Amino acid sequence: MRVRQEGAEPLKVALLGSGTVGTQVARLILEHGDDFAARIGHPLELVGVAVRDLTKERAGVPPELFTDDPHELVQRGDIEIVIELIGGIEPAKSLVLEAIEAGASVVTANKALLAAHGAEIFDAAERAGVDVYYEAAVAGAIPIIRPLRESLVGDSINQVMGIVNGTTNYILDKMTTEQTDYEAALVQAQDLGFAEADPTADVEGHDAAAKAALLASLAFHTRVNSADVHCEGITRIVPDDIRAAREVGCVVKLVAIASQVDEAEISVRVHPALIPTGHPLAAVGGAYNAIFVESEAAGRLMFLGPGAGGAPTASAVTGDLVAVARNRVRGVAGPNQTHYNKQTIAPMGDVRTRYFLRLRVVDEPGVLAAIAGILAGHGISVQTVLQSSSDDAARSDGESAELSLMTHMAAEADLMACLSQLKASPKVLSDVRILRVEGM
Ligand code: HSE
Repeated sequence: MRVRQEGAEPLKVALLGSGTVGTQVARLILEHGDDFAARIGHPLELVGVAVRDLTKERAGVPPELFTDDPHELVQRGDIEIVIELIGGIEPAKSLVLEAIEAGASVVTANKALLAAHGAEIFDAAERAGVDVYYEAAVAGAIPIIRPLRESLVGDSINQVMGIVNGTTNYILDKMTTEQTDYEAALVQAQDLGFAEADPTADVEGHDAAAKAALLASLAFHTRVNSADVHCEGITRIVPDDIRAAREVGCVVKLVAIASQVDEAEISVRVHPALIPTGHPLAAVGGAYNAIFVESEAAGRLMFLGPGAGGAPTASAVTGDLVAVARNRVRGVAGPNQTHYNKQTIAPMGDVRTRYFLRLRVVDEPGVLAAIAGILAGHGISVQTVLQSSSDDAARSDGESAELSLMTHMAAEADLMACLSQLKASPKVLSDVRILRVEGM
């Protein structure tokens, strides 16, 4: 890249995709062009917007900018920055690689693409000496990519734990505060526009898993793909899980966790978990996102804000646009993410955490000891026990009772080994509900 001369042509920007976020990004570029030019030290010009439907009106974006041929736009030879907001793998992947090949820097919000094909894309960008910035790919408006890549790069991160999907946080929050069931809460999330019409990627945890892979890669300087992330969604959470969590002073949240397991291993996972009500993540309500970072020197940091939506995500995209444009004006590429630290991904069996078990048992002397004995046989120690009182007619009928147990730290493999024994016990009358407990 060459240093920009004063009076040289504006930096030409192409926008791919003009949905909720894309339209907001185009509007911000067009409305705040003078401010952006002053902050960059050089003017920008939005020269094309690739859309699927040329006939659809987009408020505030002149129709003459629209094209339905994104490949031609990216390859026209004078584009310096490509903003990719199409989402998904193809054609986004080909277009991003074409943009890099053509010498353009890229700004993207595409977590699925980077979590699956980041190695190929970042390597291509490094060879071409251009930037790939993606602040909007994780937690919408919340600055977290740059803090991890730049601000905290001199520290050693022990754990990143976040609520990184607004749809599932909204659903769990409704189930907690209004005792709504899962289906009703999902319909509300869809009506409010948080959840997609097909919300599978949100509720099954795939969206959060892609974000977890990106956070883990940065935090531990290791390449982590979405396929490396253990992923469980929220579709099996029932109102009784939420009620039982409340009884032990916790809320249920879908969390993305990347943590150091030992010197050479990290764990990267997405699953529902009990979080103590005193933990900062427990208070994150509605469609908000938050990321809690624990590092050796800085200690505990919390990043909180809107994790989705057109305008908040557009803020992160335009922040990257200005940063990337500043780099181009100076003729440099920005800081790379480094992957020198070849950590392996721990299997879930090696992960150690606390567990919350809920089961219905025969209500007779010795049952508690029998259950604790099965756990103890696998080296698992019980921290607290809660048994439904026999005058609670809804949950104890005199012959059976609900038992809720919180364990001390235990290895997942040991807990799973107990499970078959618990299920086979004649004293256990129900399924054994298991949720992990984090942040204690
Ligand atoms: N659908 C996501 C969410 C936003 O609900 O958080 C984009 O990743």
